[in-house]
Order: sequence, then C-alpha cells, then structure tokens
Amino acid sequence: MAIERTFSMIKPDATARNLTGAITQMLEEAGLRVVASRRVWMSQRQAEAFYAVHKERPFFGELTEFMSSGPTVVQVLEGENAIAKNREVMGATNPADAAEGTIRKRFANSIGENSVHGSDAPETAAEEIAFWFAGCDVVG
Ligand code: CMP
Repeated sequence: MAIERTFSMIKPDATARNLTGAITQMLEEAGLRVVASRRVWMSQRQAEAFYAVHKERPFFGELTEFMSSGPTVVQVLEGENAIAKNREVMGATNPADAAEGTIRKRFANSIGENSVHGSDAPETAAEEIAFWFAGCDVVG
C-alpha cells in the first residue's frame, strides 16, 4: 500500500475542551504522522467554501455556524493507507454509531459536534489540503 496524505480537522467542540493533544495522540498511535498543523478560527464564509459540497443539505447553516464558532486545528496526516486509516480511527460520523476505541466514540458530542473531520477520498484529500496549506507548509 502506498504512502498517502490526508486532511484532518480537530473541530471547535474539541479545541474548546482542550482535546487537541489527546486526539493527535490517537492519530499518531494509529500510525499517522502529522506533517502540517495550524490552528485557525475560520470565518463562516470560509466554512461555507470548505463545505460547499454540502450546500444543499438541511444542516449546512448549522454546520458552517458551528465550524466558525471557535478555533479549529487543520492538519495534514501522512502514512500507509492514510485516508482509510484516518477514517477508521475517527469512527462513524454519528457518535451513536461509532465503534469503541474511535475518536468520535470517545469525544464527540453529537453528529454536528463530532470533534474531527477527515477526507473521504484521494481527490477530496488533495483539494482539502490545498484549501488550507501551501506546498511548503507540508513537511514529511
Ligand atoms: P464532517 O466529516 O466534517 O463532514 C460534514 C459534516 O456535516 C459532518 O462531519 C457532520 O459533522 C455534519 N453533519 C452531517 N449530518 C448532520 C446532521 N444531520 N446534522 C448536523 N450536522 C451534520
């Protein structure tokens, strides 16, 4: 399996509870390496642009309001099969469905305040990394 890069966000519900380190530790223990990391307080307009794929969904306003309600940590993760591995350690979108030992099972408050985001495919990973980072910010 090739070495991949994926995009990860630690969401405002998690930064508010000082969980950046605990979540990053779970990612690292899963074999993922943090090759870029930055704390940002995104505007609602940035959240709308980042989540544009969801703009027709009924929860779009709630999602973009929440994502701009406090600081987020944006990261690039690198490792073997990094996209699938990150999604495995994150757990299901809805914490009620998340498996034991996953980040969302352990920390998420709800389907909206679900502590982390991770890219779902190579194309979205490339787009999402490029949204937040310049090439020179990513140091493998
Ligand atoms: P994320 O992986 O960041 O991608 C889109 C987000 O939309 C998702 O995680 C959830 O936090 C959010 N989301 C999905 N479904 C709902 C919903 N029914 N209500 C509120 N937020 C949702």
